[in-house]
Order: sequence, then C-alpha cells, then structure tokens
Amino acid sequence: MNRIFKAIIRRIKSLFLSSTAKRHGLVGQPELWKIKRDFQINYLQAVGLKPHHYLVDIGCGTLRGGIPLIAYLEPKHYYGIEFRDFVLEEGRKELKENNLENKAPVLLVSKDLNTLDMDNKFDYLWAFSVMIHMKDEIADACLSMVSKHLKSGGSYYANVNIGEWAEGNWEGFPVVCRSLQFYQTMAAKYNLLVEDVDDLKSLGHDTGIEKQDSQRMLRFYKS
Ligand SMILES: C[S@@+](CC[C@H](N)C(=O)[O-])C[C@H]1O[C@@H](n2cnc3c(N)ncnc32)[C@H](O)[C@@H]1O
Repeated sequence: MNRIFKAIIRRIKSLFLSSTAKRHGLVGQPELWKIKRDFQINYLQAVGLKPHHYLVDIGCGTLRGGIPLIAYLEPKHYYGIEFRDFVLEEGRKELKENNLENKAPVLLVSKDLNTLDMDNKFDYLWAFSVMIHMKDEIADACLSMVSKHLKSGGSYYANVNIGEWAEGNWEGFPVVCRSLQFYQTMAAKYNLLVEDVDDLKSLGHDTGIEKQDSQRMLRFYKS
C-alpha cells in the first residue's frame, strides 16, 4: 500500500517537472544528478582512465555519467549497456543535444547480460548504482560478462550496499544489500578477485545522504 501511495505521489510530482528534470528522474533524484554525473568521470580519471582506454558503462541509463565519459574517450571507445530501451532513447537525445554523435559510442539495449558478447576487451567496466539493483542471478550474469570482457590488468568498478539493511524497490528493480563475502564468492566463480576500495564519500561522492554516501566501491580484477 505504502509503495502504491509513493508511486502515485511520484507520478503527480512528475506532471509538474520540466522535460529535462523528467529525463534526469529516470536514473535517480534530479537534484543529485550533477553530483552523480561529476563523480563518475572524476573517479574514473582518478583511477587511471585515459582517452585511449575502452570502457563499458553497465546500466548507463540516460548517459548521466556517460556524456562526460564519451566526450573524454576516443571515438568508439565508450560502450553503454542499458536494460530499459525507453531510458536509453533519452540517452541518445542527450548525446545529440551535447553534439557528441561524432564520438560514435556503442549503445546497446540488453535484457540478459548472459548473452551479451561485445566482441572486444575492455580496460574498464563500470556499473554506477546498478549492482545495487541486481537480483542474485543477474549479479551472477553480470560478473560472468565482466570476466569475459575484461582485459588482463583491467578493472571493473561497482558501488554496492554492504550490510544488512532492509531491502527496497526502485522503479521496478530491487534495492539489494549483501555481504562482501557474497561478492568474493561469486567473483571467484569467474576468476575475479575483489578489493573493497572505500566508501563513496571518501572517494568524493558527497550528497549528504548517508545511505548513498556510505555505499562501498568494489574493484573486481583478474588474478
Ligand atoms: C540508478 S540508474 C543509474 C544509471 C547510470 N549508471 C547513472 O549513474 O547515471 C540504474 C540503471 O541501471 C539499469 N539496469 C538495471 N539492471 C540492469 C541490467 N541487468 N542490465 C542493464 N541495465 C540495468 C536501469 O535500467 C537504470 O537505468
């Protein structure tokens, strides 16, 4: 009941939003959009992303993080994967509005990460605020896909909820909380190791919202 009530309130609010705010709202709270956009490029550059690298943005949404990454990377070096086609369509509009179509990013709708084969290997794979929305079997498919596509020496970064909070729901996706051990065990199935880097706040993600800033950044890599 509470969930239905919240959905109705969200719907009513959305009727009063500008089209830009509506687009931003497809991937989270519009008022946090700029913080979350800036964090992604700043963090990836801080961990060594260079224009010649190849990167996959898993769950790229409307290209909130994608646009600065596409601008920074060489043409055809950015791959964005998204589950919801209407959301990626908004991303394509962002790309056009930012005059970045010449960068020719590869933008793919994927309903099943198990069957995704990009015929390329990547220096970085990135899933910002996406693994927190994956059921166990989807997280498993994600790590299998990562292992298949990660260059040796490359890194896959994902922020996650570690601990035992009450789980929730966002736009039809679950909001999940797991132990570090869960990720280590699942990663080992695919020959990946896991480093618990730090909490997001220490890495420059400062929204003032404890639940978001205290998420952990994990780095997965090949042994
Ligand atoms: C909170 S949004 C974050 C979007 C983007 N990473 C960003 O930071 O702007 C999460 C996105 O992940 C997408 N998503 C969730 N599960 C997915 C999956 N299994 N494969 C691809 N995309 C997925 C959702 O549709 C949504 O657009």
